[in-house]
Amino acid sequence: MKNLKKLTPILALTTIITAPGVLAHSDHENASNTFVTPTLETGIREGDDVYFDLSLQSGFSQILPDVLTETWGINQPFLGATLKARKGDSVHVTVSNNLDTTTTLHWHGVKLPARADGGPHQPIEPEEEWLSEFDIIQPAATLWYHAHQMHETGAQVYKGLAGMFIIEDDNSQSLGLPSEYGVDDFPVIIQDREFNEDGSMVYLGRFDVQGGMMGKTGDTILVNGVINPLLTVEKSLIRLRILNGSNARIYNLQFDDNRSFKIIGSDGGLLEQSVEATMITISPAERIEIVVDLSDGGAPTLIHSAGMAGMTGMDASDMGFFETVAMSIFADDEPEQDFNIFQIDGSHAAASSAIVPDQLSTHNDYSGEIIAARRTMTLKMEDGSPFTTITAGIFGSNDLLTINDQSMDIGRIDAFVKKGTVEIWSIVNASMMAHPFHIHNVQFKIISRNGEVKSHELGFKDVVLVQPGETVEVLMKFPEYSDPNTPYMFHCHILEHEDRGMMGQFVVI
Ligand code: C2O
Ligand code: CU
Ligand code: CU
Repeated sequence: MKNLKKLTPILALTTIITAPGVLAHSDHENASNTFVTPTLETGIREGDDVYFDLSLQSGFSQILPDVLTETWGINQPFLGATLKARKGDSVHVTVSNNLDTTTTLHWHGVKLPARADGGPHQPIEPEEEWLSEFDIIQPAATLWYHAHQMHETGAQVYKGLAGMFIIEDDNSQSLGLPSEYGVDDFPVIIQDREFNEDGSMVYLGRFDVQGGMMGKTGDTILVNGVINPLLTVEKSLIRLRILNGSNARIYNLQFDDNRSFKIIGSDGGLLEQSVEATMITISPAERIEIVVDLSDGGAPTLIHSAGMAGMTGMDASDMGFFETVAMSIFADDEPEQDFNIFQIDGSHAAASSAIVPDQLSTHNDYSGEIIAARRTMTLKMEDGSPFTTITAGIFGSNDLLTINDQSMDIGRIDAFVKKGTVEIWSIVNASMMAHPFHIHNVQFKIISRNGEVKSHELGFKDVVLVQPGETVEVLMKFPEYSDPNTPYMFHCHILEHEDRGMMGQFVVI
């Protein structure tokens, strides 16, 4: 079986710089799989207390047509159910590890006490349980949860330990937005995988230094665990909660008919005002909520659009010689191609009564508050002298991927933060690859990206893509949680970079 390549190339690029929007139309006959909406779990509720029981387990999944794939999941064989709770809830999650390896379950984007965070300091041994308890103190948002085991996050998330976590609040439910789960409100978890002919997934070998530098990408795109699915919608206005759940791949999303859509939310929840767009870049771990109007009865395909702009999120005209050379060094052997993500059929859609109001939310951007500290986080990738490359191969990490010239050390605290204070962090990318930088326990505002901020990046964020040579400044207020003994993480969300040292720790005191 030679043609396992499930990416559906639309246009093979011979040059990297191509005007976005000039795309051949995709083949709609291609979609054979039905879109799967992950099961919704609202837990067991007693007043404001909500109890979830999660089992981390392995199983077999039919992802490819003729073979089964061994996968990991949460309460199901592959990936996790969508969990939903409300602002003001007290959440109690019991996580049982039914895998044969140590893992963790991290609440990405959630403001919570460090002991409940599920990072590398809360390992769950096989056959053991871990109780994570936290109050929901933040507004409605599309968050997610995933494994975060030291050095193993990439492999474990790749196998399937990831799911969506949705928070609602009074505001989000009063706006009239599409919000019926699985009817006009859909999770869209985009992940790329590579498969062997026997159906097993291909991950990096332990000593694959080059793969570790690039991050693991695959030639098969899954949406909620399904290849190239078709979503037949019943309503003419739909909301897509897009999560880039990939280990390393950055997507530049647009519809093949170039229709516009409204961006209504970012990592931390609803924007203040929606932003009209035709293309959006989403890097690993980022979330973007969009509303798409299908009242024309159209059948658009969401595609990844290749090209310089897509690969880097920059306009090609911003590109200097340095970046052009850097991209060609780090690009795969194969030229970057456009490919399908999933298809929508709006031809049977009934008129929707949902709306996108002008004002979606009001943000406190902490602008009047004192800045308690400023920190700089400089991301570097050493070129790898033969010696460091060999030792990195043998020891699985060490000094190739750094923040402020240091690789992650679980015994070292890199920053001490005071609870309830506002800080500005400058994230400096001194490498030749883009890095999606993530901070636990906060939702920040991007206050400068080389001087300016694009409108859809004005919302609250917990991941920001930092381009080569770029400095991004973020401003955040740390919640009123403190624990001098339990750190939170900050790191690159290319999971292979995180696993190989591009991570640090802070405690809140
Ligand atoms: Cu998405 Cu440290 O995590
Ligand atoms: Cu996180
Ligand atoms: Cu990185």
